[in-house]
Amino acid sequence: MKDTRVLLGVTGGIAAYKAAALTSTLVQAGAIVDVIMTAEAERFITPLTFSSLTARPVYTSLWDAPERIPHIRLVREAHVVIVAPATANILGKLANGVADDLLSTALLAARIPIIVAPAMNSAMYEHPETQAHLQTLSERGITIVAPESGFLAERESGVGRLASEERLLDAIRLVISSGNGVLRGKRVAITAGPTREPMDPIRHLSNASTGAMGIALAREATARGAEVTLILGPTALLPPAGVRTIRVVTAQQMFDAAIADATGADLTIASAAVADWRPAEQSAQKLKKSDADLNVRMVRNPDILKTLGERKGGTFLVGFAAETQAHEENALEKLRNKNLDAIAVNDVSEERGFGTVENKLTLLFAGGEREELGTGSKPLLAARMLDAIAKRMEAAK
Ligand code: C5P
Repeated sequence: MKDTRVLLGVTGGIAAYKAAALTSTLVQAGAIVDVIMTAEAERFITPLTFSSLTARPVYTSLWDAPERIPHIRLVREAHVVIVAPATANILGKLANGVADDLLSTALLAARIPIIVAPAMNSAMYEHPETQAHLQTLSERGITIVAPESGFLAERESGVGRLASEERLLDAIRLVISSGNGVLRGKRVAITAGPTREPMDPIRHLSNASTGAMGIALAREATARGAEVTLILGPTALLPPAGVRTIRVVTAQQMFDAAIADATGADLTIASAAVADWRPAEQSAQKLKKSDADLNVRMVRNPDILKTLGERKGGTFLVGFAAETQAHEENALEKLRNKNLDAIAVNDVSEERGFGTVENKLTLLFAGGEREELGTGSKPLLAARMLDAIAKRMEAAK
């Protein structure tokens, strides 16, 4: 934990006093801890407790800090933010983008990993609304340290006690060690989504990619401190807020953007499902319907990843292979053919892959190593994928 900068958010629950013990342990372990308290937290414990433990000012309001906008600085300087205890209220605010005090504003501005440790009455914790918020937060890659069962302040037993200090520390360590900060300050380029190849002003050829995996990778890399450029094809999904995003439509546009932005990057991940062909001719007017069949001559699109492989330089280059058969042999062939450092193999023969929430990935490396990333949500797999890549990037230094 030495020199790890932790931003601790304390909200108004009886478990707020336990945040003081956590602060003390973190400080003793060498961490630099900044504390934000909500107004309700101040009813349970005083800022003086935390400022005494951290020997640093404690922040309680957007307005009375020595500077005007402490929320931006605090989340920029920290490596991780943990909200412990997190009330149902802060979880709801974070899940819905409500920013009405210093802590909720800071959380919304955070591009660093966020951990929340809910603690509340079991009825509130089990309420479908709270559970839905937790689900949303988890899907966005926020780490949730689930509460434990036991004696609650209401003098009854149930789930809702703040997780043990050990579990909170484990969560912080895990988040901090993921990638070991390898991606901090690195330039990362990611292609994502489908491309759309027009035939006429209203018809096009495309595929079922949604860009979800690439968007998850962009969010995760940003959370790890990378400077990310996301080159995103036409999709209804929104790119992560704060990530530099270049919207493109056709494979040629994606090619141009990738050559301009991915050349010289520290890490490039091509997750886009680029259309391999495009109609040779594009009619300026809508093609008139007739009873005859229509033959469309298709010409090859440029292979973006292969071109990046030819001018790779020091970039760590990662591709995706969505295969329905002979997955790993085909993927290895692509890895060699396109001069990649790694390839993520996606089995799309089952109900996984394109447009689905869950995915199953295996990473193959140029050195011959193989890493199963398992099955899970795309944000979870994005985190595991960046862990594995960061390890290899570090080793290659
Ligand atoms: O050769 P194949 O299309 O199966 O290879 C898939 C990988 O190559 C993916 O990483 C995809 O993003 C990338 N690709 C590309 N440009 C193309 C075709 C594929 O960057 N025209």
